[in-house]
Amino acid sequence: MTSLFSPLTVGAVQLSNRVVMAPLTRMRATPGVDVPNALMAEYYRQRAGAGLIVTEGTQISPIGKGYFDTPGIYNDEQVEGWKLITDAVHAAGGTIAAQLWHVGRVSHESFHDGALPVSASALPYRNRATIKGADGSPQRVDCPTPRALSIEEIKATVEDYARAARNAREAGFDLVEIHAAHGYLLHQFLSTASNQRDDEYGGSQENRARFVLEAVDAIIDAWSADRVGIRISPQGTFNGLADDDLEMALFLAAEFKKRGLAFVHLSEPDWAGGPKLEDSFRKELRAAYDGPIFGAGAYDLAKAERLLDADLIDAAAFGRSFIANPDLPLRLRTGAELNEPIPATFYGGGEAGYTDYPALAD
Ligand code: PHB
Repeated sequence: MTSLFSPLTVGAVQLSNRVVMAPLTRMRATPGVDVPNALMAEYYRQRAGAGLIVTEGTQISPIGKGYFDTPGIYNDEQVEGWKLITDAVHAAGGTIAAQLWHVGRVSHESFHDGALPVSASALPYRNRATIKGADGSPQRVDCPTPRALSIEEIKATVEDYARAARNAREAGFDLVEIHAAHGYLLHQFLSTASNQRDDEYGGSQENRARFVLEAVDAIIDAWSADRVGIRISPQGTFNGLADDDLEMALFLAAEFKKRGLAFVHLSEPDWAGGPKLEDSFRKELRAAYDGPIFGAGAYDLAKAERLLDADLIDAAAFGRSFIANPDLPLRLRTGAELNEPIPATFYGGGEAGYTDYPALAD
């Protein structure tokens, strides 16, 4: 039986346990410049007991942004800001991966001086861009119909991913995680619901996967395959891409195996109201990809232990419970009671609901 509290090798990195902090959008980067700051460093330092922290999605370019005050990883000031965080996590004995994010069409022209967000095709997704309301609180608004990326722009975006990976390395991260899930840009290329291109980036499964794999390859070239993982969300319904098929996930998994990627992070559909993943699919994924698999989505200790025992995952990622419990691994290990998360303070704001959840030792 594999314990959640036993070590795990993930590419070039040793995790001290298998409790992963899931990537969580918190929207507390410095406004206007999207630079990570000391408050964020304190939040992540508090959670360094995780075997691995995966940061909140961090945009690889200005056009990759779709929520206010999310951090970027495309310029020097942002790299300096991230160093505060990686230093704090490492000093506390933790390891940390930067999640590389491009939201594609899940955005709003107000983030881009009036310019349209970009996607695979000019097909809209409604009701999800998150702008700052007049009182500073998050407001969900319709996303405009995006502009389809040209082939030259796809190549330039691949370069943006590579730059972001170089920046992550420079900022002291242990790993990067490519966000190819949840209806954001890479997923918009994978799914027929959002990709109706008739060039080499649309149509067949292979064509729809081309952009993801070009981004993967560029990031590997920029750093090293044993530093690169990826997040996918087969059957996920979040952000409107309900048609996503398991075949694509298995095709991708085989490609990730060929490349020796450090991990695959499976965001399971039930966290956002989708179906439960079948164990039969988990077994197929295991067969297709030979590295560590992280499961995420509505995990508690029992779900994590069941899937670890069945050898269907190697680590379990916790989201909302990590928001509310900075010392979550300790609480899970000792059976301590958990603090309840407070959704009203998930997005934006300051310390309240961010760095003020109590740890057991407090
Ligand atoms: C969110 O802000 O709710 C969010 C962001 C990125 C994700 C999923 C959810 O991948």
